[in-house]
Amino acid sequence: TVGKIAFDTALPIPALAQSQSGVSGARVFTLGIQPGETRFKDGRPTRTWGVNGTYLGPTIRVRRGERVEFAVHNGLDEETSLHWHGMHLPAVMDGGPHQTVPPGGTWKPRWTIDQPAATLWYHPHLHGSTADHTYRGLAGLFIVDDEQVEALNLPSEYGVDDVPMIVQDRAFDGEQQFAQREPLAGSLGVIGDEILVNGTIGPYFDVTTRLVRLRLLNGSNARLYHFGFSDERRFSLIATDGGLLAAPWETDRLYLSPGERAEIVVAFEPGEQVELRSYPAEHGGVLGRLDGFDDRFDICQFRAAGSLSSGTAVPAVLGAAPDLAGEAAAQERTFVLASNQINGRSMAMDRIDFGVREGTVEVWEVTNDNGYLHNFHVHDVQFQVLTVDGRAPEPPLRGWKDTVLLVQGKRYRLAMRFRDHTDPNMPYMYHCHLLAHEDDGMMGQFVVLGEGE
Ligand code: C2O
Ligand code: CU
Repeated sequence: TVGKIAFDTALPIPALAQSQSGVSGARVFTLGIQPGETRFKDGRPTRTWGVNGTYLGPTIRVRRGERVEFAVHNGLDEETSLHWHGMHLPAVMDGGPHQTVPPGGTWKPRWTIDQPAATLWYHPHLHGSTADHTYRGLAGLFIVDDEQVEALNLPSEYGVDDVPMIVQDRAFDGEQQFAQREPLAGSLGVIGDEILVNGTIGPYFDVTTRLVRLRLLNGSNARLYHFGFSDERRFSLIATDGGLLAAPWETDRLYLSPGERAEIVVAFEPGEQVELRSYPAEHGGVLGRLDGFDDRFDICQFRAAGSLSSGTAVPAVLGAAPDLAGEAAAQERTFVLASNQINGRSMAMDRIDFGVREGTVEVWEVTNDNGYLHNFHVHDVQFQVLTVDGRAPEPPLRGWKDTVLLVQGKRYRLAMRFRDHTDPNMPYMYHCHLLAHEDDGMMGQFVVLGEGE
């Protein structure tokens, strides 16, 4: 519901992860996964997990072309992993269910950042426990910069006019602990009734510039957000999962399903106050009928100062549009999501579902064939949504994506190029990003094969 939030805490901005310089100029980041306690409300603290802290983790910020290395230390008393969602990298560095870190252990992935500027993120991916480990607090942003985005004069002062917003829902029990209670909406997993941004319930943000860029991450396990503002103002969508759109898209609403990101630019007038909100879903009877998606609620309040500095702008041309539509597909594949399976099969750690050829473009046709909310995420690549039910996609699906909401019954044709990083023995994942579905087996594995493999 709207109007019940006090907005009495300033939005915390996740720290930028510090790096050291390693051999051959690599940037070395140290990430410690640890248990702790976090005070979300008055009263008792909640037992949580965090990365270099007690809840969530620092923002990792790198430039395209940089070599990065991580020391991921697991300070929990159980196994976990850290996956770099949206990153193009060798499968063995991906942090998926085959790259687990034992309690007390340290995992050291390394790779070269080789993709356009984008807002990516990280979270655990231990098969069967992804939902639980992420829910406890293991997640953070991973921002990639490049020359192209830096030349655009977009708002880019971190925490000032370039604001990370990790949006999550949580349910609390009577002891103020995170509740893994009965789901409100069928087999979705937990839907919480408190909305957190960067780990804070109902925060406010002090606006000091005329334009503010928000990097929105749906970091929830299962909840769909339909973002808009309380006064119905319009804003510009400038980037989706994999980076900049070709041109800004003006809108007053934006869906993000679990795992998806968007960068939007919002204009403010001096002295005004407005709330970022989620509105009911409008996919007529498909998502709208599910409890938990038919409500509206406030997320964050923006309070503009009496005078605002200007200087940044949103250019009419941003990036290059995805360009795979004209490519001949080396292979077409069909994926039907239903009953927490894909094509009637559940995830098996020791089964590779198929191999793709290095250097080729494939077209995957994906359908949600039952009444529950699902989306579809592919590791290693960013894909282009070619068509939805035979038609050109809406503007928010015209940029690079790694996760796409699947409206029931519609056919999504996704084109992707598997550029390199062959490894016949180490798979990448594709799955529904509703974490309870993924844990339940709505996931599969593919390998990228080189010549003659
Ligand atoms: Cu965000 Cu396979 O994950
Ligand atoms: Cu699903």
